[in-house]
Amino acid sequence: MDKLEIEGGRALAGEVRISGAKNSVLPIMAACLLTAEPVRIRRAPDLRDVATMARILRAFGAEVERTASDTLEVQMGQACSVSAPYDLVKTMRASFFVLGPLLARFGEAEAPLPGGCAIGTRPVDQHLKGLEALGATLDLHDGYVCMTAPPGGLVGSDVRFDRPTVGGTENLMMAACLASGTTRISNAAREPEVIDLAKFLLAMGASIRGQGTDQITVQGAERLSGADFFVMPDRIETATYLIAGAATRGRVRACGTDAGSLASVLHSLAATGGELDVGDSHIEINMRGRRPRPVDIRTSEHPGFPTDAQAQFLALNCVADGASTVEETIFENRFMHVAELVRLGAVISGPRDNSVHVQGVPQLHGAPVMATDLRASFSLVIAGLAAEGTTLIDRIYHIDRGYEAVEDKLLVLGGRVRRVH
Ligand code: UD1
Repeated sequence: MDKLEIEGGRALAGEVRISGAKNSVLPIMAACLLTAEPVRIRRAPDLRDVATMARILRAFGAEVERTASDTLEVQMGQACSVSAPYDLVKTMRASFFVLGPLLARFGEAEAPLPGGCAIGTRPVDQHLKGLEALGATLDLHDGYVCMTAPPGGLVGSDVRFDRPTVGGTENLMMAACLASGTTRISNAAREPEVIDLAKFLLAMGASIRGQGTDQITVQGAERLSGADFFVMPDRIETATYLIAGAATRGRVRACGTDAGSLASVLHSLAATGGELDVGDSHIEINMRGRRPRPVDIRTSEHPGFPTDAQAQFLALNCVADGASTVEETIFENRFMHVAELVRLGAVISGPRDNSVHVQGVPQLHGAPVMATDLRASFSLVIAGLAAEGTTLIDRIYHIDRGYEAVEDKLLVLGGRVRRVH
């Protein structure tokens, strides 16, 4: 199993090119199941999760090909199966996104209850509630979810989620595109990736209003067409590299990105004392060699501070000049990184009531640590880059799930990192 070896103690400095968003390309790939026509997805990052989604689509009979380093072509003619293979789904919760499109186009769909990151219970009850509201019947057996549409196909309906869910909103939005009549989703997720998926569906000829608000309306169509689409830049990858720059007292410019979706992260980064330069397609942070100031973080739904950047900011707080509190409100048990950060010399108490208290230390010290989930893994990279000495991160396949070419990007920024087989 690959490990990442980091020689820390150097400020990152330079420019990093941001990839397409993982959390956008995955539902977009699933949405390709809604049409028989070819689809071209540009700025598709080369990630382990993208490869997994490609294998899932192929299992249904789709042709999926990477025709250029950042371009995927997908075509789903007839389905040879509507059952998602357990071996693939168990590694990635986003595979549950195929349920809505399969059900809408082929009238039935089967998927194992999903796996993915080990960040607490992550039920799918809201996905199922939404699809049932469109008339689907649900059968749960042997860990599988089997759904069947009524004989005339799904029927638009009013759905109110009990809590905003990104994946649930996306699944329902996709299914509603081929349902007859109108679907109104209230308490919908407002994340930028939901907007990106809606843009993609619009490019396929769907009729959607309200994306980016908590009320989304979808007017169903008989069929959708192919599309040629650019995936939005990854806001979490952007946040991650900027936080790494701040934690190492360096200067990092993220290029090919969009500050519009990052207001709360940029607000927190400014509070560290870093100088921010925000342009049309770049964001730069410059610490001018100064130690960051600590910043209290409380995650929440968009436009609040994203839970997917919590672990990385916590690592920054570990080397900040003072104390801070980090509170997680989206997921239970999303503090697996704390025990590993402590191994590097961080002073953290908790978690208690989904919060931790961090006392920043002037210096962390390299040590062997273990990656536990995707974002938690990068918090260890950040801590390792800031630490004195060598940090060896085990199980870095978690990082490969969601960060494209991680060691190449860090090398360009002057990080001393090496993949060890
Ligand atoms: C997506 C992102 C993930 C991010 C999360 C929150 C993708 C592929 N993943 O995950 O990186 O951390 O949004 O921004 O886009 N919930 C239920 N019932 C459901 C669905 C969700 O109770 O049916 C709960 C979850 O357990 C969690 C909360 O709702 O506590 C939010 O989850 P959700 O927004 O659905 O996250 P994902 O779509 O899984």
